Amino acid sequence: MYEQIENQVKSAKKVVFVTGAGISQESGIPTFRGKDGLWRNYDAMKLATIDAFYDNPKLVWEWYNERRQNIFNSEPNLGHKAIAELENFVKVFVLTQNIDGLHQKAGSSNVLELHGSIVKIKCTVCDFKDELLTEFSNLPPLCKCGNILRPDVVWFGEGLPQDVWQEAIIQASSCDVMIIAGTSLVVSPANTLPIYAKQNNAVLIEINPDETIMSSDMDLSIRSTSAVALPELISIFKKQ
Ligand code: APR
Repeated sequence: MYEQIENQVKSAKKVVFVTGAGISQESGIPTFRGKDGLWRNYDAMKLATIDAFYDNPKLVWEWYNERRQNIFNSEPNLGHKAIAELENFVKVFVLTQNIDGLHQKAGSSNVLELHGSIVKIKCTVCDFKDELLTEFSNLPPLCKCGNILRPDVVWFGEGLPQDVWQEAIIQASSCDVMIIAGTSLVVSPANTLPIYAKQNNAVLIEINPDETIMSSDMDLSIRSTSAVALPELISIFKKQ
């Protein structure tokens, strides 16, 4: 299956991963779209918006608190671990849409969190930002300035942190291989990263049990789960 890309992969100097909710699915964290994307009968897509937050900040905080508990009880799977191990063989960057921190927990050192982090909070009005070390007893929590605190994540319609996004473009534009794992590639601008890689003539490899809207642009589509496919794919680098 890997013959057509084996030589390019073996000679790669930099490998960039673009990951999404699917890579953490085998760690027990639900994806956003499809049958998994429901919480207490609310559509995750509708909760992850600034409007939903201002309509009912307590509800959105409860959703994040539950997700945080689930994430804290989760462990990186063989997919996350394979990516971390690859650093022993080649330069690796991980551009993730996930907020769960599992790439870092698996040992990856160069992780750019495009959509923020579930352990970070910020004020809706002033410049206050912090890590969430203990759970709040009253929801929604308030900042010292008196306004509501929110999770420091990127919701629909919001821009990405510009420093992180610019760095992601630089890494995508300079890689030799891009491995896109566990993302539906429907959310912009993260789904433009493969285009930057292609402009650098990088090999594009997708790992997803289902077809995505960019499957036809891939040099190789592996129709399997990431915990199964990533360790196999990474073994090509070890054979050098
Ligand atoms: N291994 C690999 N891929 C998987 C697995 C698995 N075990 N299980 C599911 N998938 C695939 C699905 O087929 C789907 O294409 O992962 C993808 C998950 O897609 P989404 O739920 O749309 O998640 P993602 O692409 O990360 O969403 C992007 O949208 O909701 C926002 O901000 C949120 O970061 C998120 C963004």
